[in-house]
Amino acid sequence: MRIGVLTGGGDCPGLNAVIRAVVRKGVGAYGHEFVGYRDGWRGPLEDDRRPLGVPEVRGILPRGGTILGSSRTNPFAGEGGPERIAANLEAVGVDGLIAIGGEDTLGAASRLHTEHGLNVVGVPKTIDNDLSATDYTFGFDTAVNVAMEAIDRLHTTADSHHRVLIVEVMGRDAGWIAVHAGLAGGANVILIPERQFDVEAVCDLVARRFAGHFAPIVVVAEGAQPLGGMPDAGDAPTDAFGHVRLGGVGHWLEREIERRTGKETRATVLGHVQRGGTPTAFDRVLATRFGLHAIEAAHEGRWGTMAALRGTDIKLVELTEATDELKTVPESFYAEAEVFFG
Ligand code: F6P
Repeated sequence: MRIGVLTGGGDCPGLNAVIRAVVRKGVGAYGHEFVGYRDGWRGPLEDDRRPLGVPEVRGILPRGGTILGSSRTNPFAGEGGPERIAANLEAVGVDGLIAIGGEDTLGAASRLHTEHGLNVVGVPKTIDNDLSATDYTFGFDTAVNVAMEAIDRLHTTADSHHRVLIVEVMGRDAGWIAVHAGLAGGANVILIPERQFDVEAVCDLVARRFAGHFAPIVVVAEGAQPLGGMPDAGDAPTDAFGHVRLGGVGHWLEREIERRTGKETRATVLGHVQRGGTPTAFDRVLATRFGLHAIEAAHEGRWGTMAALRGTDIKLVELTEATDELKTVPESFYAEAEVFFG
């Protein structure tokens, strides 16, 4: 068999571990050949390929990013994208694709399979951990550890200067990074997209923390919104899938908290630091297992499926199951974090 591999959407630690596992098992166990498509769906759309064999995947397990490159190209954005992809795959004898991506990349994979009959197996990737049908996506654990370390460091400087320190973390629609990193780092307030927040209530928690002679750390997910919404949202650029470029709630909160409490307040935006660099052991193992199961699925012709973590097992689920609905933070989990607020 000849199998194409692509990585799409925001990059994330562990992508190279998946590629390595797919190729090592595909070549070693089944004698398959691989084609590396560059930059997500742009690769098969424009027939931009690179060799992908065992020599190309040597030494990449601990490396962040993706050797294949990534983009947010949407194959459904213009005219005839799916047909071009099908023709390009056929021209070079590619039997099917392994698409490693998040909501958008796998959403496109799912449509290409169900509406255009393309052979695709998915692997769930995103630091945001917001894909349904899998308990965890790889990349998330690394992002949480980066954010937790930042919170640990901010605690000591916040206490020294009696300041409010805000950490803005990624998380467009789901606050998984914020809640996990906030719980692990002992944050005093955690704000997530699933629940609009009241700035006055945040200021009360800030005051309560100062009353105990410690300085507060506020963790805010980039997609979190105050009651009534962010005043200046709406004029930011959008990507090919229509997502607005986020970022700004941390600095908005900085001004609001300082104005309302009179306490010096500073915001740190972690941004892409959370996505870059070497994956944790957890992410390397999860990514490797996803890769092994994805190539097995492709070998067996189980197209239209995705490798997913269920408990401690990797299972194959329908791609549609993973992309129909986002997985958000449940109220009960947020309530556990709330115990430590203030
Ligand atoms: O990959 C998901 C994500 O990390 C979101 O949390 C964030 O909003 C987005 O990517 C940022 O993407 P970009 O780097 O393309 O601006």
